Amino acid sequence: MTAQAYIPRDAPLEKRVGGIDPALDLAAEIKRLAKMRNAVILAHYYQDPEIQDIADFVGDSLDLSRTAAATDADVIAFCGVRFMAETAKILSPGKTVVLPDMRAGCSLEDSCPADKFEAFRKAHPDHVAITYVNCSAAVKALSDIICTSTNAMTIINQIPKDKPILFAPDKYLGAWLARKTGREMLLWEGTCIVHEQFSEKELIKLMAQYPDAPVAAHPECPPAILDHADHVGSTSSILKLAREHPANTIIIATEPHIMHQMELAAPEKTFIGAPGADGQCSCNNCPFMALNTMEKLYLCLRDLTPRIEVPEEIRLRALKPLERMLQMSPLKAAAE
Ligand code: 13P
Ligand code: SF4
Repeated sequence: MTAQAYIPRDAPLEKRVGGIDPALDLAAEIKRLAKMRNAVILAHYYQDPEIQDIADFVGDSLDLSRTAAATDADVIAFCGVRFMAETAKILSPGKTVVLPDMRAGCSLEDSCPADKFEAFRKAHPDHVAITYVNCSAAVKALSDIICTSTNAMTIINQIPKDKPILFAPDKYLGAWLARKTGREMLLWEGTCIVHEQFSEKELIKLMAQYPDAPVAAHPECPPAILDHADHVGSTSSILKLAREHPANTIIIATEPHIMHQMELAAPEKTFIGAPGADGQCSCNNCPFMALNTMEKLYLCLRDLTPRIEVPEEIRLRALKPLERMLQMSPLKAAAE
């Protein structure tokens, strides 16, 4: 991993990234470089609006994996977090995959080191290991099937009823899946530091203020939040609900940058971010996603670095459970 010093997001441009002319039209330069490199720019819904706007494709983690697997571009500039870019590299080893900031990790990935996960698996050899895509390539390599929040239910429902399941690393997603599928599942103790910030007390206050507003929540939220939700699902399913629900005001319990796509899709509606304990939702910005900026996207297209590399032995082992995921979740299952 490339070490980079922490630089505040509101620092002047020239301090944020060395050597960039402040007069540069970054959006135009990014487009020019992407064309020159035959690069596709992929962005997750949690990225800054300006990054979402310049991307060739914006999606949830499953959509992004599928797009990365299918692209004929030479370079994938991945605006998301490291495990997502790593997944793209595992699926498309012949492509150059760049990530604007290599420090863009994920608390779920951090919670699950490969050696500890291997010991967990060894302690339960009869269990099938279904692992959330928010994990390292090394953990994927130790898993039977990968899932995302979009296809997890579809995949679990295909596992024979007598087969016990190990689920890592998100304990809240795992508990929600166990509840919805009626399956007993052994859960890893990981959490998303973003989704666990939502406050039930503040959410109840907000619901009282907007009694007609449905609540849509990502299953990485703790059960106390999910219990109040009218809809629980992946980022793409929350976006679909925002577009299609007849209500004029909708409360959103996931990372707030997704509201950019909601506002584009349904400008007449009001979307309100569920609050954290301070009554605000700023604490629910993903600090990892926020490390990617337009300046760093420009630099990574210019210099083709930082690059994602996965040792071939790990890649080949990680590919199997990812391919199993794609086989077990045909496109029609993609919007739970
Ligand atoms: P999605 O798969 O729903 O996009 O979620 C990814 C993620 O990291 C949520 O925090
Ligand atoms: Fe990881 Fe949570 Fe950020 Fe998603 S929102 S990338 S789960 S830390």
